[in-house]
Amino acid sequence: MPTINRQRLLTDLNKLRSFGACGTGVVRPSLSAIDMQARHWLAQRMTEAGLDAEIDGIGNVFGRPRHPGQRLLVGSHSDTQPTGGWLDGALGVIYALEAARALAEDPSCSALPLEIVAWVDEESTFTSCLGSRAFTGALRDGEMAAARNPDGLSLTDALQQAGLSGQPARPQPDQYLGYLEAHIEQGPHLESAGKRIGIVSAIVGSRNFTVRFKGRQNHAGTTPMPLRRDAGIAMMRFGHFVDEAFKAAAGPKSVWTMGRIELSPGAASIIPGAANLHLQFRDPDDAQLDRLQACVEQLIAEANAAGPVSVELEEFSPPIRPAEMDAQFQRHLSEAARLHAPDAWQSMPSAAVHDAMFLARIMPAGMMFIPSIDGVSHDFSENTGDDDIALGSQVFTQAIATILKQ
Ligand code: HGY
Ligand code: MN
Ligand code: MN
Repeated sequence: MPTINRQRLLTDLNKLRSFGACGTGVVRPSLSAIDMQARHWLAQRMTEAGLDAEIDGIGNVFGRPRHPGQRLLVGSHSDTQPTGGWLDGALGVIYALEAARALAEDPSCSALPLEIVAWVDEESTFTSCLGSRAFTGALRDGEMAAARNPDGLSLTDALQQAGLSGQPARPQPDQYLGYLEAHIEQGPHLESAGKRIGIVSAIVGSRNFTVRFKGRQNHAGTTPMPLRRDAGIAMMRFGHFVDEAFKAAAGPKSVWTMGRIELSPGAASIIPGAANLHLQFRDPDDAQLDRLQACVEQLIAEANAAGPVSVELEEFSPPIRPAEMDAQFQRHLSEAARLHAPDAWQSMPSAAVHDAMFLARIMPAGMMFIPSIDGVSHDFSENTGDDDIALGSQVFTQAIATILKQ
C-alpha cells in the first residue's frame, strides 16, 4: 500500500506556512495577495505531482487526475483566520497533495483517480465556507455580491484584484464517489484521551448573527443619564442577558461566543449612537439551535419594548445545518487507523465547522482529525507534533487508497 514521504510532507507544510508567516502563526486571509501567492504555489506543486492544476474563478485550487474513473475529492482550505494557526486547513491540503504523490509512487495505486482541492474562504473573511458552498451550489442568491471583508472590501472587488472571474467550478453529475478531509481537531479531546487519530462521526451546526443597536450619539459629560440612548451599554447588557439565557437553555454540547463588537464612533467622551455585536452559537442538534435562536429573538423583543435603544437581528451568514459523515468512509478511516495506529484512535464529533459538511450534502463525505497541542486553535500558538502529523498523513493516505480500490 502507498507510503507517504515524511520529509516531503513536512517541507511542504512549512513552505505553505511561509506564505503569511507571523511568528509561529499565519496571517493569510482569503484572496489577499499572500493568499493568492500560496494558491499559485499549490497549483505548481499539484502540477509537479502529475495532476492538472486549475484555480477556478473564485480561488479554489483543484488538482485533477489524468486517470479515468469516478474520483475521490480530497482537500481542505488554505486560507486562515485573521490571527490563524499554521495547520488549520493547511494540514488537509498538504495531506491531499502528499497522498496524490504517494499513490503515484505505488504501482498498485498509480492509476487511482484522486482529485485534490484547496478551498477558498472557509474562514469567513467574506462569507463562511465560500469555496465549498459555491462548488456545491449552497450559496444564496446575491450572497457573493453582498459579501465584504472586515475592512469593507467587497468580494467582487477582491476577486477582480486577484484576477479571478468570479465563476466557481461546479461538479459534473457522478463525477465524484465522495469527499475526504483531514484537519487538526482544534480541541482537547484526542490529547486528553491519549489518542492520535480521530474519525469524525458528525459536524456541528452553527448560527451567526449581527445584533445591531441604534441609540443617539451625544456628549458623555453633559447629557443627563435619564436622557441617554447609549447603544454601547445596551449592547453589553444584551450580551449578558444572552449569556444567562443560553446557560439556562443550552444542551450538553451547545457552545456560544460574541467574538466581534463595534462601537460608533468609538471615542471615550462620546456616547455611542450605534453598536454591533457578532453572536455565534453551535450545536450538533438543529432543534437545539432553534431553541437558542428563540431565546435571542425573545430578548430582542424585550429590549425593543423597554427601549431607549432599538435592536435588530441580522443574519451574518446563512444557518449551517449539522452534517453526518458517511459510514463507509468512517469504516475505511477506522481500518486504516487500526492498521497504523492500533489502540490510538477514536470516533468523535467535530465541534468546528468544516467544508466537508457542505460536500456531505451532495456526496458521501468523511473527515479525520489529528491532535492539537493543548487543544488550542485559531491562535498563533496552534501546533501539532511532527510524529502525529506524519502518522496522520499515512493513515489518511491508506484510507484514500482503500476507498478508491473498493
Ligand atoms: O470556526 C470554525 O469552526 C472553523 O475553524 N472555521
Ligand atoms: Mn478555522
Ligand atoms: Mn479549518
